[in-house]
Amino acid sequence: MSRVLPAGPGLALVALLALLPVVIGAQVVPGKPDAGGMPAPTVALERGRAVYVLNTCHFCHGVDLTKATMGAAVLLHSPLVGADENGNVIGAVVRAGIPNLQTSMPAYPDLTNQEVEELAAYIHYLRQLGRHKELMGASVAAGDAAAGRTYFAANCASCHAVTGNLKGLATNYDAATLRARVLGPPPPAASVDAGAIAAGRRQHLTLLEKYSDDDVNILVAYLQEATK
Ligand code: HEC
Ligand code: HEC
Repeated sequence: MSRVLPAGPGLALVALLALLPVVIGAQVVPGKPDAGGMPAPTVALERGRAVYVLNTCHFCHGVDLTKATMGAAVLLHSPLVGADENGNVIGAVVRAGIPNLQTSMPAYPDLTNQEVEELAAYIHYLRQLGRHKELMGASVAAGDAAAGRTYFAANCASCHAVTGNLKGLATNYDAATLRARVLGPPPPAASVDAGAIAAGRRQHLTLLEKYSDDDVNILVAYLQEATK
């Protein structure tokens, strides 16, 4: 979904044209079942993308947050960005810039609050897509199930129980599918109400930004052992 937009005159027009198919694509088809998977960009996220590219963030940080031109930080793996909520950390850095004698992170003092929030939402969205891709492709290693139990108690037990709504997972899914279900934002389940699904999806997406490769390995090891 990311693409590099050329700088210079006509940039606004190009950005506008780039928005069109997404605005059309975002229309909800009534009755169409939601299959789960990574979410499609919303209109607000597209506005965030416009802030990102019009301010040329992608020149130094890349269209998918993986670049680090001119000494820039790799935003896909930045703990600072991981600690951000609704732009509170990203906004402060971006508005003030980071002065540096060699290269520098420019300051953007004129961004409005809405622009900062939508920019931050877009950066989080790119991180979720990027980490999902990385973690799905990461080399799978045997995890420490005991460590997985502790991780689960701290991050999952508010919504899940291994002897409750996750019971039987290890019997029903092979390790690769189980991994995909841990990582993927959940599809609607007939037995769960829409509000709980929406909250679960948000939380699964937030977790995606926080998982290390090993976190996923230990979780899968624990679930394989505990949900038979
Ligand atoms: C000219 C290159 C350049 C541009 C354009 C740029 N940055 Fe940066 N950015 C940097 C550099 C260099 C750093 C690291 C500075 C340092 O640590 O000394 C940085 C750091 C950051 C950080 C802190 C990350 C961390 O882990 O410390 C954030 C967040 C960030 N940039 C976001 C943005 C956003 C959003 C935009 C667009 C509004 C943007 N940057 C535009 C070069 C750039
Ligand atoms: C805010 C609530 C919430 C949190 C926290 C949460 N989930 Fe979920 N999760 C859900 C919902 C809702 C579903 C979809 C409904 C269902 O399958 O029960 C789901 C689905 C799943 C599924 C797929 C279940 C299936 O039958 O296919 C797995 C696996 C899963 N979550 C693992 C985890 C793990 C591991 C954690 C912690 C690292 C976690 N979840 C944290 C709400 C949450």
